[in-house]
Amino acid sequence: MNGRDLVRSVKAVGSAGAAQGLRTVQAAWRRRRADATGLPQRGAERARVPGPVRGVEPGPGGGVVRFTRSELRIVVTVNGAVFWGWDGAGPEPSYALAGRCPEPDPRAVLEPDKDGGWRVVSERATVVVSRHGAIEVQTPGGVVLRRDLPPRWWEPVAGGAARWLQRSEVAADARFFGLGGRAAGPRLRDGTYRLWNTDPGHTFAPGDDPLYITMPVQMIVSDAAAHLVFHDTSWDGTVQLREGEEGAGSGHDRAGTSELRMDGGPLRCWVMVGTPARVLHAWVSLTGAPALPPAWALGHHHARWGFGSEEEVRRIVAGYQERGLPLDAVHLDIDHYDAHQVFTVDRVHFPKLPVLAEELRRDGIRLVSIVDPAVKAEPGNAVYDSGMVEDAFVRDAGGRLVRGAVWPGESVYPDFTHARVRQWWGRFYEERLAQGFSGFWHDMNEPTSFTAFGENTLPRSARHSLEGRGGDHREAHNVYALCMARAGYEGLSELTPQERPFLFSRSGWAGLQRYGGTWSGDVATGWPGLRASLSLVLGLGLCGVPYSGPDVGGFDGSPSPELYLRWFQLGAYLPLFRTHASLRAGRREPWEFGDDILEHARVALVERRRLLPYFMTLAHLARRTGAPYVRPLWWGAPEDRALRDCEDAFLLGDCLLVAPVLDPGADRRAVQLPRGRWYDTVTEKAYEGPAQVLVEAPLGRIPVLARAGAVVPVRGDDGGLELEVWAPARGRVGGGLVVPDGGDGWDEPELERYVARWQGQRVVVRRDGDDGPSVPSYPVRVRGLGTP
Ligand code: NOJ
Repeated sequence: MNGRDLVRSVKAVGSAGAAQGLRTVQAAWRRRRADATGLPQRGAERARVPGPVRGVEPGPGGGVVRFTRSELRIVVTVNGAVFWGWDGAGPEPSYALAGRCPEPDPRAVLEPDKDGGWRVVSERATVVVSRHGAIEVQTPGGVVLRRDLPPRWWEPVAGGAARWLQRSEVAADARFFGLGGRAAGPRLRDGTYRLWNTDPGHTFAPGDDPLYITMPVQMIVSDAAAHLVFHDTSWDGTVQLREGEEGAGSGHDRAGTSELRMDGGPLRCWVMVGTPARVLHAWVSLTGAPALPPAWALGHHHARWGFGSEEEVRRIVAGYQERGLPLDAVHLDIDHYDAHQVFTVDRVHFPKLPVLAEELRRDGIRLVSIVDPAVKAEPGNAVYDSGMVEDAFVRDAGGRLVRGAVWPGESVYPDFTHARVRQWWGRFYEERLAQGFSGFWHDMNEPTSFTAFGENTLPRSARHSLEGRGGDHREAHNVYALCMARAGYEGLSELTPQERPFLFSRSGWAGLQRYGGTWSGDVATGWPGLRASLSLVLGLGLCGVPYSGPDVGGFDGSPSPELYLRWFQLGAYLPLFRTHASLRAGRREPWEFGDDILEHARVALVERRRLLPYFMTLAHLARRTGAPYVRPLWWGAPEDRALRDCEDAFLLGDCLLVAPVLDPGADRRAVQLPRGRWYDTVTEKAYEGPAQVLVEAPLGRIPVLARAGAVVPVRGDDGGLELEVWAPARGRVGGGLVVPDGGDGWDEPELERYVARWQGQRVVVRRDGDDGPSVPSYPVRVRGLGTP
């Protein structure tokens, strides 16, 4: 135990009570002991590189290139993605893939290249393999996007998992994004980023890394094209990034580099090349379409750790209602459980939850329940008893139950990497549904165990089914929450087949979007935390998880009224718009910060409600195309370097540009505009991009600009859908997409296309259809007409 650990253990004892403190010490010792005996010792290792090429074996979509000491399998699939795996690794099995691997593209063939190398030419990318196993990915026009040097393995002489290193070079102008949820992004600067889902154990700010969701997914954007690279390996590892440098025309550019070091697992990867939109489309066609949230989940949520009773929930809801503030969901945290035990209710303080839920539902408000994976290890606890019968819990190498310490005390952990265990767990949501809950909030699923020292998770030696293949926590850790999300999603799909499940999860991995979204976790209250909130949402969206949002106001402490309001204003434009805070934090209700703040927060809430049809459209588009709702400014113009470096604003779909205020004391801010005309949505003042402009940002609002020509579906005063159309620049045509859905079911409404064009002095909007243009069936309001 080092000094820092000692402080942690003393703190744990002090803050969580003596008994729990003792448990954290026990959990830490148990973890250490388990790993001392249960993990293979790292003895002597042998280093290996592929060696020279020996021959090839063409196959569908590519083939196998044999080297002296390894072989490389390359497949181009019909979705335009390129797969390659060393040592013969194929795409399956994989936790990331949505189903079976897409079919090989028969047009892609392996052919000889210069100097004894080989290449596969496909529609979107060319892959060139050198005779020593370096791999280049080029655009169809021949520009090199990345060059992976021959990999290196270190194999234990006594057998077992090999460590490996993959060093890659990218263009000097390239920028890195992704790697899951990173607080210091969205642009990932030089540094080492760990791939190990981690509960930081305290509130986090931009300096904290890693966090709850890590993914070996990088989106790399350079002048020539964007590309996404995914190393399909769930083991612990690090990525060391270094941006390149351009030699200002001297011809001496320094390439950007990425060094991936993994503790084990196959060395295999997927690469997708194209525009950001194409790349994300290919990515979700591989890893699954994002789950569509029910309409209510796109409204405003209010959560709190520590409502403590039904009366308090009613008081908060009444606070919203009396002030005429929109509210769509209330979340109950672990304090509504009986002694913090999952799938139970504290009947003293929450005696009639189903009645409360029903009353709220009548008022259009849904209840969402927290769900923690750890189960109190105590006979008599129904989940524990049933899990014991089912043999559902993680065991160590000696066959003993792995026990950790979480909120309910000593706890055991379901092994979600086993299909039978997922089914067993999924059935418990019936209890939640019977209590009246409509949505689910998965927490503590890195998985966390409070340990006084060492890592706050399960022992690395803990055994997991891994779908029957068998393995240990080194491989299962990063996919634990993904598998829990699958259990919840599939359970709910069976229990309420007529409704779209709503769940979001603190931890996850590539493919999480199939089951739901996520949120920031315990973001620190402070201006840096506000910035981190946006970074996480943007980064996760580029990894295929489009639905997320922060704890508005921050998780701990008390934000200043100004900070609270600026957070609230940003949250109103993010997919998950939720106020939440810790047991020990100050209040987060909009009326707790004075009358001015209340009125400004009201404006944000009302605007969010007005934009619901637009959010719903974005949710459908994310499902159909993979495009996140919240996109970096460079989304449509990755070659625009000023946009590539801009991290303090975002595009909300195609129509809006949101420029949150991220610093105190601002009443205006600089906004980097992409090409075209943009209107301030409040003043209707027009700005021309590309340019950096100064825009008013009084306390009452953050700048939101609409793209000229945009067709934005909004909710009219009568609750019906209306089209808000922003005048195209003269001589230009605008348009937009609308997916009209207000429901919670599985309908796949038709995509409606609208075109806006000038006709004399008027802007006319028409719906495009197979039978020609038609008059829209919704009221149309044209704005921005004052600008010539
Ligand atoms: C940690 C979560 O991140 C937080 O949102 C929640 O309030 C607490 N756990 C208590 O359940």
